[in-house]
Amino acid sequence: MIIGVTKEIKNNENRVGITPSNIKNFVENKHTILVESNAGLGSGFSDEEYRENGAIILQTAKEVWEKAEMIIKVKEPLQSEYKYFRPGLIIFTYLHLAADRELTEAMLENKVIGICYETVELEDHSLPLLTPMSQVAGRMSVQIGAHFLERHYGGEGILLGGVDNVDPGHIVIIGGGIVGHNACQIAIGMKAKVTLLDLNANLLQKIKKEFNNNIETLISTKENLENTIKTADLVIGAVLIHGAKAPKIITEKMVKSMKKGSVIVDVSIDQGGIVETMDRITTHENPVFIKHDVVHYSVANIPGAVPKTSTLALTTATMPYALEIANNGWKTAVKKDPYLAKGVNVANGNIVYKAISEAFNLPYLNLERLLDE
Ligand SMILES: NC(=O)c1ccc[n+]([C@@H]2O[C@H](COP(=O)([O-])OP(=O)(O)OC[C@H]3O[C@@H](n4cnc5c(N)ncnc54)[C@H](O)[C@@H]3O)[C@@H](O)[C@H]2O)c1
Repeated sequence: MIIGVTKEIKNNENRVGITPSNIKNFVENKHTILVESNAGLGSGFSDEEYRENGAIILQTAKEVWEKAEMIIKVKEPLQSEYKYFRPGLIIFTYLHLAADRELTEAMLENKVIGICYETVELEDHSLPLLTPMSQVAGRMSVQIGAHFLERHYGGEGILLGGVDNVDPGHIVIIGGGIVGHNACQIAIGMKAKVTLLDLNANLLQKIKKEFNNNIETLISTKENLENTIKTADLVIGAVLIHGAKAPKIITEKMVKSMKKGSVIVDVSIDQGGIVETMDRITTHENPVFIKHDVVHYSVANIPGAVPKTSTLALTTATMPYALEIANNGWKTAVKKDPYLAKGVNVANGNIVYKAISEAFNLPYLNLERLLDE
């Protein structure tokens, strides 16, 4: 298969879909890897390193998109890339389609095969290709919050860990999955006061035990959210309903009740976000805005800020699946691997992932029906 890797064009996105050391495996299996010049620079990989491992370097993204049968990326294609969509082209990347009608429609119209990282799902319902980036984003969310709590960024001017005879700050983490759990680890390490909310009581108890009862856990009801958010210095949004748009569980009224200079980091923003007032996606260049005196942070590619760590973590998880697709073609690959099959969101002009059809009220087709065509 001819596989293409382009340079990411999202603001300050320095991750890359393949590292030089990943390439050997593909070349040994007789695949051709085309890499856009400088695609890996932001993650510390030069064209020379890709070349040495058997990749062909092309000067423009256009050439890579047009020649490749499968494009391996990190973030979703942006509007300027839609012109390269064509029937049968496989795009293997994060897509977050439920939050992006325009991209969904462009992929459907052009009959692209969209296999997305974040919905590949194992038997235990874990998301192996989202997990590494959720670990990064969860750990970063606390460090980002601490940064914007500094006075000169519009924050209330508190140190989350406090000091002797001064109380620590209060971090409210909503969602106790991978992002929330990793945020807890850093928050506890910083000596902040932590409240974790989730719908899953067993999960909350497990995490509470892990931290020796050093965190408060609450079921995520409207009342509990209202009461805890009022006293929070930092709120972290870490909710996910697999494949679906995030529910807006933090209302504008709750935001208005927050302290002046407190901070919300909504990691769930890539699925639409859980905060009513988080009405835009921000960028690493311009990451925050202030509404009702609360600092709002809504960057949808947080791990892009630490590309060296993130690219290694991401590609370690994605490459075995990419090789399955390259070796077998997408249809055989997903017939053989039901977990990878969960990653197929759109194919041949159809939505084949239920939560996405529901998000847009568009028809759903069972993937099985396409596989035997
Ligand atoms: N912004 C970024 O750069 C970035 C990076 C990585 C991940 N993410 C996003 O972060 C989000 C969380 O990812 P994850 O890997 O932790 O998911 P996860 O599935 O591991 O955890 C999600 C948790 O949310 C909980 N939940 C669902 N509804 C809830 C509600 N109403 N109240 C409280 N909790 C609720 C679930 O029970 C689950 O424990 C996803 O949207 C993911 O795409 C964003």
